[in-house]
Amino acid sequence: MISTRWQIIFCGILALILPRIEGNAISLDSSNFNDTISKNQVVLLNFYADWCRFSQMLSPIWDELATIVSKKFPEPGKAIIAKVDCEQQQEIASRYHITKYPTLKLLCNGQLVKKEYRGPRTAESMATFVEEQLKDPIIKIESLDDIKKAKEENKRTIFGYFDASGHSAQYQNLQKISQALKDDCKFVVGIGDIVKQLRPPGSAVVTFSGSASDEDDTFLGDLNTYAELLVWATDRCIPLVREITFGNAEELTEEGLPFLILFHDPVDDDSPKQYRAVIERELVDHKTKVNFLIADGIQFAHPLHHLGKSRSDLPLIAIDSFRHMYLFKDYSRINDAGVLRAFLDDLYSGKLHKEFHYGPTDEEQLSATIQQIAGERAGGEAVRRVTTPPESTFKKLGPSPNRYTLLQKEEL
Ligand SMILES: *[C@@H]1O[C@H](CO)[C@@H](O)[C@H](O)[C@H]1NC(C)=O
Repeated sequence: MISTRWQIIFCGILALILPRIEGNAISLDSSNFNDTISKNQVVLLNFYADWCRFSQMLSPIWDELATIVSKKFPEPGKAIIAKVDCEQQQEIASRYHITKYPTLKLLCNGQLVKKEYRGPRTAESMATFVEEQLKDPIIKIESLDDIKKAKEENKRTIFGYFDASGHSAQYQNLQKISQALKDDCKFVVGIGDIVKQLRPPGSAVVTFSGSASDEDDTFLGDLNTYAELLVWATDRCIPLVREITFGNAEELTEEGLPFLILFHDPVDDDSPKQYRAVIERELVDHKTKVNFLIADGIQFAHPLHHLGKSRSDLPLIAIDSFRHMYLFKDYSRINDAGVLRAFLDDLYSGKLHKEFHYGPTDEEQLSATIQQIAGERAGGEAVRRVTTPPESTFKKLGPSPNRYTLLQKEEL
């Protein structure tokens, strides 16, 4: 065994040879990746490729960031600035659906946070971002009135009622989850006697509420099991069907899944309800393959126009695969069992794509195409646009050109 004194001398020599080693971003590979992400509250990852110019530009900034963060948060288990060489670590890169370099990902307690870092790519500003991620998102209540007030805000909120030992494993599980889901839910916690009447003696309760009028939806699993609580909380905080706006379009695009979008007239509240109901009833198992979205058809008139449609055609449903847009043929059939699922299956099987290039495969579609061709002859750009697959419009709502990522997209 080497004595401490010799270790110090040895490290001193190393420090002379490699003066910047302790500040550098930690390189992750299959041997240390899982361990690192699960043992740290915050891991900011740079997925890079050596040949990529934008990766090379980010590299010294990333090391500088690592130096700042390791000085600010030296305790183990807090924050790690790491990097993954995507050429060498293809399994990890594909697990995170990396398609462009460099891509930055934030993990909280091993859990991928959907919201990306969007600020300037300077070491100082990214260090501030890391610091924010380390703040405890849990709001502690002072009285029962605070619970009432929180519910009245009508925001997605997870409430936790614990006994006096607020640092139990159960509490810590909720705290870990709150870090990963803080952008999607509020976390409000009461500890001790104030919340006595809201939990059985000696035990804890975790419950969700989306709006003041909702019945509380209480977690019935084991609060000691992190994974179980995480699945439950994720299902509630990140809804199956989300609204797309110009504010979140870029983020949604970055999730990388094709969009199934309902375009509706803002005065029409019924079709979003209908659409949600069909998805909840029939398509829950598709949520890892597609993003279910609702769009205001007036705000998003541009993609509609692309499909040869306008306000008077609403509501309608389309897929944007980031290559093309495909129109769901007949909105009035939305409630027919299996029809929307068949539309999605046609996307996965490539049938939608093939049809647009080689023509329809069944009679009903054939007659529709004949009508379209007739319409096209009668003249009209709009109709022509429908016969060939309109290009994706949401792809263009992706990252703005002043980010490295998009520049890289064009290079690839
Ligand atoms: C790391 O975790 C992933 C996902 O949980 C798993 O598929 C993979 O086999 C793990 N790798 C190692 C080396 O343990």
